[in-house]
Amino acid sequence: MERVLVTGVSGYLGKLAAAALLAQTDAELILPVRRLPLARDVEHPVLEELAALGVRVSDEHRRRMVIVPYAPDSHAALSEALAPYPAPEIIHCAGCLDYFNENELWATNVEFTRQLLELAERTAVRRFIYISTAYSSGYIEGSVPEALHTEPERDPTIYTRTKRAAENLVAASPLATLILRPSIVIGHSRTGRYTGKQYGLYQLWSGIERLLSSTWEPDLHALAPTSRVNLLHQDAFQRALLAAREKLPAGAIVNLVSNPKTCPLMRELWDLWMDRVFRPERRYYYEAADDLPVSTMPRRQRALMALASVNIEIAAHDWRFETRGMARLGLGTSFPDATLDSVATCQDLFVSSSDKLQAYLRKFSRSHAAATAAAGAMSCPEISMASLGSATTP
Ligand SMILES: NC(=O)c1ccc[n+]([C@@H]2O[C@H](COP(=O)([O-])OP(=O)(O)OC[C@H]3O[C@@H](n4cnc5c(N)ncnc54)[C@H](OP(=O)(O)O)[C@@H]3O)[C@@H](O)[C@H]2O)c1
Repeated sequence: MERVLVTGVSGYLGKLAAAALLAQTDAELILPVRRLPLARDVEHPVLEELAALGVRVSDEHRRRMVIVPYAPDSHAALSEALAPYPAPEIIHCAGCLDYFNENELWATNVEFTRQLLELAERTAVRRFIYISTAYSSGYIEGSVPEALHTEPERDPTIYTRTKRAAENLVAASPLATLILRPSIVIGHSRTGRYTGKQYGLYQLWSGIERLLSSTWEPDLHALAPTSRVNLLHQDAFQRALLAAREKLPAGAIVNLVSNPKTCPLMRELWDLWMDRVFRPERRYYYEAADDLPVSTMPRRQRALMALASVNIEIAAHDWRFETRGMARLGLGTSFPDATLDSVATCQDLFVSSSDKLQAYLRKFSRSHAAATAAAGAMSCPEISMASLGSATTP
């Protein structure tokens, strides 16, 4: 039986990778976890993702998952724990995304990757797949090549620097390696199901839920540039991972991204909130964080922008990704690219699952009706915004 070691299974992408492998291969999965959670705390979420793929979960799936707990912060403990389960392939999904925890970013993304590579080299691993990020280039001019990156002038965050450093380690190892670089992973393209943490788009959405749902505001201000945001549905990530194992030669580096032409504009993503949930009388959109009227904005909107502006600015940068690797995966039209409609499905599920947003919608439906009537009476809302000065029009 084929054996694949997957790191980070207690996290989002590790869980998705494990479920995809259970669904589409016969492999036994070796799943190291730090700390000592109950096996079922790791097993259950993977099996839920498997069921979400339409697979009937059986005992055989359970038997194919070998959870291997080890004491964290000890390289020796990891090697010892894994010794009974030599696996010829590693899919390394563990990582740290805490932009502000520099020590943890280096320790997890770089040092842990180094340890894992050493262990792989000692134990005759044949293939090492590293899950990096589409933004590992940092801010560069032109398109993001499917090759190792040189040092950019500027990184959006230390996170991208550590992911780039890890890519360099992986590529320098004598193992057969693949580096896969997903963009921002969001829920399932058809159902909107999302079980990851509040990262990326979901960081913004949970900030919106927390800060904008207590009262109806007639005026809403948002950092909403007119640039496209590359989002990758979780089922697209799973399909691409499976295809990459089948089709890519050793040494390949692939930007796992949706078709840039179908991805929504950041401004359209805000429109979804304005049109479907908040329905303010006036919306004010800004291209850059410096344009926000910070001193006069309502307090909660200011707090939201402070929370989300780093991610919005990263997403809104003019990222142009080389996509030859995606073409080599040969997924064609079966690949669920992110579109405004598919992201709306994710947002609708987020809104319908949120008690706060549902309470907001119940409480303020009358203000909505008034706002809709007011908007109908206004002949040209864009002009009314422009006349206020700093806002750009949608
Ligand atoms: N989510 C995205 O949109 C996205 C997009 C592109 C790339 N990625 C990449 O995908 C990877 C996983 O992201 P995710 O969204 O799945 O994150 P996540 O949900 O936070 O999961 C992170 C996983 O890594 C493990 N981990 C963290 N620090 C570790 C350490 N020092 N040693 C061993 N394991 C450690 C965590 O284990 P514990 O449960 O023990 O903490 C958890 O299983 C990251 O490397 C990230 O760069 C993610």
